[in-house]
Amino acid sequence: MKLPRRVKLVDVGPRDGLQNEKEPVPAAVKIALVHRLQDAGLKEIEVTSFVSPKWVPQMADAAEVMAGIQRKPGVRYSVLTPNLKGFEAALSSRPDEVVIFGAASEAFSQRNINCSIAESIERFAPVVEAARAKGIYVRGVVSTVVGCPYEGEIAPERVELVARLMKEVGAQHLGVADTIGVGTPRKVQAAMEAALKHYALDDVSGHFHDTYGQALPNTLACLEMGVWQFDSSVAGLGGCPYAKGATGNVATEDVVYMLHGMGIDTGIDLDQLVDAGKFISDFLGRKPNSRAATAILNKRAA
Ligand code: HMG
Ligand code: MG
Repeated sequence: MKLPRRVKLVDVGPRDGLQNEKEPVPAAVKIALVHRLQDAGLKEIEVTSFVSPKWVPQMADAAEVMAGIQRKPGVRYSVLTPNLKGFEAALSSRPDEVVIFGAASEAFSQRNINCSIAESIERFAPVVEAARAKGIYVRGVVSTVVGCPYEGEIAPERVELVARLMKEVGAQHLGVADTIGVGTPRKVQAAMEAALKHYALDDVSGHFHDTYGQALPNTLACLEMGVWQFDSSVAGLGGCPYAKGATGNVATEDVVYMLHGMGIDTGIDLDQLVDAGKFISDFLGRKPNSRAATAILNKRAA
C-alpha cells in the first residue's frame, strides 16, 4: 500500500458531463459552471471538445465557451482535439492541454472517431507534433480499457498496445478510461498495470464511469497502486454518445468525500463543489447524481 498524500482531480463535467445532453446548454451556463468549479478549488477543468458539431452538437460552442472563461492563475484548461482540424480550431482558445482520445477496442474507435486504432494514431501524430511545438501539454486517453459496448470484454494486452502507441506518438500522459463503467477493482488494476508498462506512475490517470456503481472502488484500487490523478465529473454528469447506456463519470463530490475522509488532500472545498453541482443540476432540472452531494444537501435542508 502506497497511498498518495494528495490527489489531483480533473473535473470533466463541462465536457464529458454535458456532451451527451440532448437539449442545448447555453455557453453562458457552461462558462458559469467552469467558474464555479475553479472557485471550488479544481486545478484542472476539461472544458470542451473541438470535434465535429454534426457528431456532438452540444460541443459546437467550444470556441465561445473557451473565450468566455475568466482564467484563474494556477488552473489548467484542457480540451479534446481528435485531429489536426480540431487542434487548429482550438489554438486561438489557448488551451493549456489538449487531449487525443483513442480506444483499446477497434469497434469503439470506429464508432467514436470514425477510424481504426492504427488510423487514429496517424491522425494524432501531427496533433502531438504541433501541440508540443507550441508548448501545449498532450494527454492521451485510451477508452474501453475493460469492456466495449460492441466487443465485450477487453484484455489488458490491448490496453498495453494502445499505451505503447500513445507513448511512441509522443503523448505525455495517459488516461485509462472505463468508458462504460463495467470494470471492477482487479480488472481496472490490470488495465492500469498495462498502461504503467509504458507510462510512469506520475503520468497516468484513471477515468471511471459509474454505470455499475464501481467507480469509487476502482478509484481506491488505483490509489492503492499509487495512482494520484483521476478524472471525475461534478454531480456525476456524463456519458458518451457512442456508448449507449453508460452513465456519467464518478461524481467529483463522492471522490472528494472519500479522499478527505482518508486524509488525502485535494485542495477542493467540498461545500463549494456541492454548490457547483447543484447549480448545473438545477439548470438541467434534475438532482445531482452524487450520494455525497445528496447527503450534504439533505443535511443543509434539515
Ligand atoms: P470524420 O468524419 O472521420 O472526419 O470525423 P473527416 O476528416 O472525414 O471530416 C468529415 C467532416 O467533419 C468534414 O466536414 C470536416 O470538416 C468535419 P464536412 O465537409 O462534412 O462539412 N470535421 C470537423 N469539424 C469540427 N471539428 C473537427 C473536425 N474534424 C472533421 N475536429 C471526428 C472524425 C473525430 C471529427 C468525428 O468522428 C467526431 O467528431 N467524433 C466525435 C468524437 C467525440 O467527441 N466523442 C465523444 C468524446 S470521447 C469520450 O467521451 C470518451 C472519454 O470520455 C474517455 C472515456 O470515457 O472512454 C474521452
Ligand atoms: Mg468519458
